[in-house]
Amino acid sequence: MAALKNDRFLRALAGEKVDMTPVWMMRQAGRYLPEYRATRAQAGDFMSLCKSPELACEVTLQPLRRYAMDAAILFSDILIVPHALGQDLQFLAGEGPHLSPRLVDAALSSLQPAPHHFAPVWETVRLTRAALPEGVTMLGFIGSPWTVATYMVAGEGSKDHHVARAMAYRDPVAFAEIIQAIVDSSITYLSGQIEAGAEAVQLFDSWAGSLAPQQFQRWVVEPTAQIVSAIRALHPNVPIIGFPKGAGAKLPAYAWETGVDAVGVDETVDPRWISKELPVQMPVQGNLDPLLLISGGPQLEDAARDVLDAFRGRPHVFNLGHGISQHTPPEHVAELVD
Ligand code: CP3
Repeated sequence: MAALKNDRFLRALAGEKVDMTPVWMMRQAGRYLPEYRATRAQAGDFMSLCKSPELACEVTLQPLRRYAMDAAILFSDILIVPHALGQDLQFLAGEGPHLSPRLVDAALSSLQPAPHHFAPVWETVRLTRAALPEGVTMLGFIGSPWTVATYMVAGEGSKDHHVARAMAYRDPVAFAEIIQAIVDSSITYLSGQIEAGAEAVQLFDSWAGSLAPQQFQRWVVEPTAQIVSAIRALHPNVPIIGFPKGAGAKLPAYAWETGVDAVGVDETVDPRWISKELPVQMPVQGNLDPLLLISGGPQLEDAARDVLDAFRGRPHVFNLGHGISQHTPPEHVAELVD
């Protein structure tokens, strides 16, 4: 294995001692930054930004010019996989993502795969890795199969993911085919990110919380374990962070059974409880409430210190419990990193 540089984030994920707790934040590049809004306007729309390696690289680097983050997360979206599986993908202003045809009415086999959509993202990783300051880790990502499937089936976001949950009960065979297609495509896509320079990867399972326990086992734990073992076989030294948002009491099972190296914890989980449930050597990432960044001030500082205290004694990567809100004043992010 190549020697680790002075790189807190990779060291913490390897369970090694670090001089300071590493920090990065989900959605550290995004609409709360005026320079992001300017680059997005230059691109025209969100998808054109994702498909332009130069502009996506620029946006990935923007938060690093303001803040001493230990990782840069690839700027892209989890819905590139459905796009590569053959769904049309559009982000309509103020409405969020739209995928068509939606798989609640169209068969998976009717889609024309379009794997060329991966190439610009891999190029973004290559450009960004080459431009990163020493000691900052390049982080790649995918959406986990369950979360991605909720969009592929319903064609859009929803509050409780009932269209996908109902299909999984009504037609588990067809639903399993969708999940398997996402697993296979995600392995190719994530492996390509690593070959292009990603040094660690995160699996975003934003909607893991909406499933009943047996469904969680089948549609979250098992497909995640399949991706983890395939990536580990191809790239044994690249740490994998799993983030099953909202998993709550199911989080320990996820941590033990998927094979991920580290778990991301959202803000609804008591850090002292989860710390007791996990093996002492397992790194944890999280879990400050992102809304504290809107208020700033002593509430932000006290809560951040409490997160640090709660995870003291185990490897910890400081992060939020979910992405930075677009209403966040950028100077509050600076306060928190300081
Ligand atoms: O964390 C990062 O900064 C990396 C880039 C990233 C984005 N989306 C950029 C983005 C990552 C890792 C994601 C993941 C993602 N995308 C998830 C999982 C994590 C989460 O936030 O829950 C989900 C569910 C999506 C799907 C998606 N993409 C939604 C629901 C939206 C919001 C649509 C809207 O208009 O609010 C997006 C768009 C999106 N992805 C934005 C960004 C910065 C906002 C786009 C913009 O208007 O500029």
